[in-house]
Amino acid sequence: MKKVLVDAINDQINNEFYASYLYLSMSAYCEGINFSGFASWLNMQSVEETGHGMKLYNFLIDCDEKIVLKEIKAPPSEYPSLLALFEQVLSHEMHVTKSINALYNIAHKENAFAVQAHLQWFLTEQIEEENTSRNIVEKLKLIDTDVASLLALDRELESRTTAE
Ligand code: FEO
Repeated sequence: MKKVLVDAINDQINNEFYASYLYLSMSAYCEGINFSGFASWLNMQSVEETGHGMKLYNFLIDCDEKIVLKEIKAPPSEYPSLLALFEQVLSHEMHVTKSINALYNIAHKENAFAVQAHLQWFLTEQIEEENTSRNIVEKLKLIDTDVASLLALDRELESRTTAE
């Protein structure tokens, strides 16, 4: 595999692990304000992001390429509101989509067919990831300051049982 591609995949591993760290920090924040459903949902999202990072990690291992793990920056620990927090989730997912697209573009230019095939899963996954976080943002906008609806959404998010 060309170095430019290996470097870009290593960067994407870092992106996914940062997402995991960010969502874990958001989960901790939600625990702190007693919204355990939001916290549980974000905790599972964090686990899912670690899985995405490992999917790329294992791909590089299988291709006998070099893993270079980079520093993971510290995520914010405070959020102005649940809406602002989920707007950040959505904006991070949009950032990840852009970076997966850029990675796919490099693989395409380099005629790296196996890499393109592997990235197909991520392209599809990003549609789901953006859609899910956008739905939560839209619900939070509708709810505004209605506490009963906010608690109902907290219960709904608590029903998520898998990190997928
Ligand atoms: Fe791995 Fe949510 O992007």
